[in-house]
Amino acid sequence: MKIGIDKIGFYVPKDYIDIVELAKARNVDPDKFTIGIGQDKQAVPQPYQDAVTMAASSADTILTAADKKDLGLLIVGTESSVDESKSTAAFLMDLLDLPEDIRAFEIKQACFGATAGLQTAYDFISNNPGKKALVIASDIARYGIKTPGEVTQGAGSVAMLISQDPRVLKLDHKSVYKTRNVGDFWRPTFSKTAFARGKFSNEIYVDFFKTLWEKYQTKYDVTANDFSTMLFHIPYTKMGTKALRTLEGTVSDEKYAELTDHYQESIKFSRAVGNLYTGSLYLGLLSYLVNGAQAGEKMLLFSYGSGAVGELYSGEIQPGFEDVIDKASLLKMLDDRQKLSISEYEKLYQIEYQDGTIVDSAKVDAKFYLSEIKENERLYKKSK
Ligand code: CAA
Repeated sequence: MKIGIDKIGFYVPKDYIDIVELAKARNVDPDKFTIGIGQDKQAVPQPYQDAVTMAASSADTILTAADKKDLGLLIVGTESSVDESKSTAAFLMDLLDLPEDIRAFEIKQACFGATAGLQTAYDFISNNPGKKALVIASDIARYGIKTPGEVTQGAGSVAMLISQDPRVLKLDHKSVYKTRNVGDFWRPTFSKTAFARGKFSNEIYVDFFKTLWEKYQTKYDVTANDFSTMLFHIPYTKMGTKALRTLEGTVSDEKYAELTDHYQESIKFSRAVGNLYTGSLYLGLLSYLVNGAQAGEKMLLFSYGSGAVGELYSGEIQPGFEDVIDKASLLKMLDDRQKLSISEYEKLYQIEYQDGTIVDSAKVDAKFYLSEIKENERLYKKSK
C-alpha cells in the first residue's frame, strides 16, 4: 500500500520584521544575519495567537468535510504548547469542527515532534486503510530580545494530511534514527523562552546527519546518486547548509551542485518566515514543492530535534502534486504580510495575557484567536 502526504498546508502570522533592520537595531553587520545566519524576514505572532490558533489555521487551509469524516488520528507536534496537561490537539476539535471518533494527542520532542507524528500516522494508516491522519506542526520560536538566538526566532504552522494513495509525497517506509541525551537546547516549564548552546547544537546536528546518512546508505545499499534532493531541519537556513556541506567531495561535483540548487529552493520560505521549530523541515518541503520540485523525484528528509533525536527517511514526489498545492494562495499569504518596526515588535513581544483577559474581537486580524483567559483556562474562537 502507498502511504504518505496527501495534502500539505501552511499558516504564518500576518506581521514580520525585516532582518536587516533587526541587525541595524542590534549594531550587527547585516551580512552576519542575512549571509552568516541566512535569514531575511522573521514572522511575529500577535498576543492572541499561539500554537493552538496557528495549528487550527494551517489545518483549515487543507481540510474538507470529506477529509474530516475519514479522520481517525490527529497529532500536533509542538514545543510551545499552552497547557501542561491538555493537548493542543484537544483544543482543535471545536475549532476545526472535527468528529469525536478520533484519537487526538500532542507530541513533544523539540523539533522532532512532527516527524514522530508523521511516522506514527504512517503506522496508523497501515493498520487502518481508508482512514486519514492529520499531523500538524505548530510553534512559536522565542529566545528573547537582544539574545544571540533572537535572529533565529519565528512562528507558524504546517499541517499534513496522511493517507493511502497520497498525492504529494509517498513515504518509502525506509528510515534510520537515533536518540542521545544531549544538553544542546531546553526550555524549563517556568520559561517562555528557550535556552540553547547554539554552536554545540550545530555540532550535534551535523554529527547526527553524518552518522544517519552513513547508516541509511549501508542499511538500504544506496548512494547520493539515488536521490535528487535532500531536505533538512532548518531553524535558520545556515544550519541546513552546514549539514549539506559535509557531502562536498564525497559525491560527484554534479550531484553536489544538484543537491545545492534544490536546497536553495527548499529554504526560500524559511528565509522569509524564520524558525518554525518542528515545522521547519516541513516548511522546507513545502517551499521545495512550490519552487522547484518535479514529479517522480526521490528525496531524503533529515529531521532533528534537540535533546536529541534525529531521523533520516525518504520519499518520492507524486505525479500531479502541483494540483494539490495552492501555490498562488501560499505566495499571496507570504506577500500580503505587514512589516513591523523593530520597536513595534519589541512592544508586542512584551505583551503577555494574564488570567481575566478578554480579547477585543474587533482588533483581531486572524480567523482563529485566543478570545479569553478565564480561571486560567484559555478559550478560543473562530471569527465569523
Ligand atoms: N558577514 C557574513 N557572515 C558573518 C559575518 C559577516 N559580517 N559575521 C559573522 N558571520 C558568520 C559567522 O562566520 C558564522 O558562520 P558559520 O556558522 O558558518 O561559522 C555565522 O555568521 C554566525 O556567527 P556566530 O557563530 O558568531 O554567531 P552567534 O555567536 O551570534 O551565534 C547562533 C549564532 C549560535 C545560531 C545563535 O543565533 C543561536 O544560539 N541561536 C539559537 C540556537 C539555535 O537556533 N539552535 C538551532 C538548533 S536547535 C533547534 O533546531 C531547536 C530544536 O530542536 C528545538
